[in-house]
Amino acid sequence: MRSYEEAFSPYWHPVAFSQELKDRPLAARLLGRELVVWRTASGVAVTQRYCAHRGADLCAGEVSAEGLRCAFHGWTYGRDGRCVHVPSQPGAPLPPNAALASYSATERYGLIWVCLAPEPAAPLPEWPELETGKVATVALPRLDWDVSAGRMMEIVLDVTHLSWVHKGTFGNPEQQEVPAYEVERTASGVRAQISYPALAPPLDGAPPKVDRTSLTYEVTFPFAVRLTFKPSLFFPHTVYAIASPWSEEKMQCFYFSSYHPALRHFPDIFVKSELAILEQDRLIAEAQRPRAHPLDFAGEVHVKADRLPIEYRRGVIALRLGRPVDGPTPG
Ligand code: FES
Ligand SMILES: [Fe+2]
Repeated sequence: MRSYEEAFSPYWHPVAFSQELKDRPLAARLLGRELVVWRTASGVAVTQRYCAHRGADLCAGEVSAEGLRCAFHGWTYGRDGRCVHVPSQPGAPLPPNAALASYSATERYGLIWVCLAPEPAAPLPEWPELETGKVATVALPRLDWDVSAGRMMEIVLDVTHLSWVHKGTFGNPEQQEVPAYEVERTASGVRAQISYPALAPPLDGAPPKVDRTSLTYEVTFPFAVRLTFKPSLFFPHTVYAIASPWSEEKMQCFYFSSYHPALRHFPDIFVKSELAILEQDRLIAEAQRPRAHPLDFAGEVHVKADRLPIEYRRGVIALRLGRPVDGPTPG
């Protein structure tokens, strides 16, 4: 069994929204590592957070044309993490080990993604609709929860909890039975579609109306999901949730939605309602034990309605064991 860090280091994980990274270096954390992120002329740079000289916090440093300059003694590091300048001894050879660990970084979908391993094991999720210029997006503040990335994904994929946890937001307590649904294995994850009689929020004191909604879940292993909502009353929209693991027991989730740009009121409605919905999830998820995403099916009991989170977990366990997840569709 590989360690959690070893298993998930070769995947791309978001560490910040692009708009958070301006001209100051930004702190980030991923799989137990403390990182600093900054912009260079040739793209985003990501290195270890603490200076190779005396361990100063490089987030307090400054970004210059040469690279990232430490606030303590001015050592400057290039995008590849190598020290390019030691001001106390100009002209002298640079100490050969004056370097920071550096990592691959890329920007896409309004996020900064980092891969800690030399070679990524899989590409970024494929969400081409976000790059057509035809949709607008609205993001929530990062969700900073004491929940493992796998548990977070499983609560998003849990079709049964809608009627229980989301009472008072969109959950319909009358709909307790989960009709049978299919789960399909895709090249990069799993996919399922359900139809759910959501309750539309009550307006002006009127009783809530049933809003028959088609939900399509598309997972990209290990921790990203695209969730397409096609309601009959509310606006169609697509939610993207990517859990970024800080450790085996904690994650931050980057959560945003795309929508038709003509829907000018959508962002306000979405942010308000989604924060209420996610708070319902957080209370359940942070209290689950064990906190770490289970590595087998033995310690918990499973029923047919859990099929989507089960197939998701099966894939994550395969990654943890270093096995391919694109085997035959599980029976
Ligand atoms: S600690 Fe960074 S330059 Fe000395
Ligand atoms: Fe939920």
